[in-house]
Formats: sequence, C-alpha cells, structure tokens
Amino acid sequence: MSTRTARPEDDTDVVCTVRDLVKTYPAPRTPLRGLRGGGRGAPEALQLQGSAGVRATDGVGLDVRRGEIFGLLGPNGAGKSTLVRQLTGLLRPDHGTIRILGHDIVRHPERAARILAYLGQESTALDELTVALAAETTGRLRGLTTGAARAARDAILDELGLTPLAARPLKKLSGGQRRLACFAAALIGERPLLVLDEPTTGMDPVARRAVWAAVDRRRAEQGTTVLLVTHNVIEAETVLDRVAVLDRGRVIACDTPAGLKERVAEQVRVELVWRSDAPLEVPEVAALRPAAVVSGRRWALRLGPDEARAAVAAVTGGAAFAALDDFTLATPSLEDAYLALGGSESGVKGLVKA
Ligand SMILES: Nc1ncnc2c1ncn2[C@@H]1O[C@H](COP(=O)(O)OP(=O)(O)O)[C@@H](O)[C@H]1O
Ligand SMILES: [Mg+2]
Repeated sequence: MSTRTARPEDDTDVVCTVRDLVKTYPAPRTPLRGLRGGGRGAPEALQLQGSAGVRATDGVGLDVRRGEIFGLLGPNGAGKSTLVRQLTGLLRPDHGTIRILGHDIVRHPERAARILAYLGQESTALDELTVALAAETTGRLRGLTTGAARAARDAILDELGLTPLAARPLKKLSGGQRRLACFAAALIGERPLLVLDEPTTGMDPVARRAVWAAVDRRRAEQGTTVLLVTHNVIEAETVLDRVAVLDRGRVIACDTPAGLKERVAEQVRVELVWRSDAPLEVPEVAALRPAAVVSGRRWALRLGPDEARAAVAAVTGGAAFAALDDFTLATPSLEDAYLALGGSESGVKGLVKA
C-alpha cells in the first residue's frame, strides 16, 4: 500500500475525498471580564477569541483509499472529531467538498448514514438499550430483516467476547465495555466504510486487541475501509496504513507511519535523567536546555547524530557526569516524528520542534 503512487484525484480506488474543508465554531459568548483594570494581555486575548471563534477545520484535504486503515492523528483539540462529524454528515462545513463513494456529502448529508458506519467519540442514543438490543436495533435501522439482524448480532457479540454481557443495559457497563458494545453495533450491516472516533478509549488490552482484530478481519474479508481517529501514536504505529497528522485544524503531514519516521531518521532521541536539578552551570548542559523537553528530572532531546555524540560526551565526562543519573539513546518513534512535525499537546509547553 505504501508503495502505490496513484494520483489520488482521479483514482477510482479513492473512497473518500475531502477538499479545502473549513469549519468555524461560533465564538463562545464569554463576557469580556477584566477590562476595568485597564491592564493589557488577558482582555485582548479574550477579545481576540471572542471575535474569531474557533476554526476547528482549517482547509483540510484528504484522500482515503479503498481497503486502507487511514488514521487521523493529533492532540486533543486538533479538530479530529469536528472533521469526522462533517464526513459523517452530522456537521455542516462552512466551505469545501466531501465525496464519499461517489456521494456529495455536503449537499446530501443524509446519505452518509446509508453508506458508512460511524462510532462517535461519545455514545449516546444506545445507552438505554441492552448490548444485544443495541446491536440488533442498529441492524434493523440499517435495513436488515429481523432474522438477519439477530444472526449478525449473535455473530458480532461472539466475535468481540460480548456474549456474557448481552442482556446488560449499556448504561450499567464500565466505560470500556460500553465502548466495545457501541463498536459491536457499528459493525452490524457490513458498511464499506467505518469511521471510528477513538474507538478504544477506556478499553483494557483484551478489548483493544478484539477491536483491532475485528477491524483487520473486515478489511481482509470484505475490503472494508477504515477511517480511524486517534491521539495515541503507539496504537497508530501498529494498526495504520497511512496517517494524516492534524494540528490546529490543518493537515501538517500525510504519509505511512514508516514514511513519517523516515523524516526524522537522521535524528537520535537522547534522554537524560538528572539526579536532581540539571547542572545548568555547565555550559554544555545549559546549551542543550532550549532543545530539551523537560519533565521533572528527565530531559528528552532529538538531535542529529553528531550533536547527539557531542551531547553524550559532554554529559558523561567532566562536571555534568556527577549530576547524571541515567541516559539513553534511541532511534525515533512515530511519536518523535509527530512532535518533529509540530504536533503539540495543547497546553503543554516545551515540545521539540523541528
Ligand atoms: N460544539 C463546539 N462548539 C464550539 N467549539 C467546539 C465544539 N466542538 C469542538 N470545539 C472546538 O473545536 C476544536 C476542535 O475540537 P475537536 O474537533 O473536538 O478536536 P479533537 O477531536 O481533535 O480533540 C477545539 O478547540 C474545541 O474546543
Ligand atoms: Mg475528538
């Protein structure tokens, strides 16, 4: 899949095409506090946000190919859920086009429900039902006969290990169990496109594996295409064919996990653990500080091979060594690539930028 060089625009193997998609949420109606003091800064920031609203999707373009597991990766607030809610016809974009399996979803949002299965980030409508009824009802809503809906229900509950919970109402289950039950319902009726918004949130490892196995099986046996939202780079690395990295409403990269990692292949991840405070009086250590992601006693750095060698020489010899508890060198992970691309945990400062 990674070696294909098709031109996505006129490739009939493209299931979902998005162009120039924009969605701005209206400005929150926050009263402008703090104006009386005549101070600068905070009121201006408030005013700015107040006038602009939140541009949650800011000119997104994507092509999802048939049969691939395509990931949308990004920190909280990046706009992932906003994007998929537009693709599923639940939210109207301000601007842009969405074509899914030949249908214009901006013009005909109601068609989305007939061609794709969507697992939203929050479960809602099904919560009053039992696990079995949630699956069966979804099957009936998707046009299966009662008999077919029941057969599909039994098969999927069995596949996901949910049979023992079949008679329990969703609202009485743990978060992870409820999520798995909603996932089960989403799979009923064999839609050609699955859109899953953080499907494994709250699940234990057994349930997670069941989800990925079920997704994989559908791709292998039915050619199902999967659009998967996640903020978990580790998970992403293992299951995704291609990834679009989303940051503040924009696609900042789109590639295979391996391709993304290649972009930082020349770099080495260096981790330093200090015994207590870092010895900033040592000039070589002070020089590393601006590039470090600091969490407590731990510094993480991404450096070129020569820089990494010099850094290690500096901290393992001379005055810094006494202050050093531990250090490691590693080749970059997808997370490193993601951080290098500028993906930023909102609110967390000091992430390494390329
Ligand atoms: N219904 C809404 N009204 C106003 N702002 C929203 C709404 N939903 C999301 N946002 C804002 O839009 C941005 C993107 O949110 P979201 O799409 O949920 O991101 P993600 O799924 O990547 O965490 C965030 O800044 C969020 O606060
Ligand atoms: Mg979300």
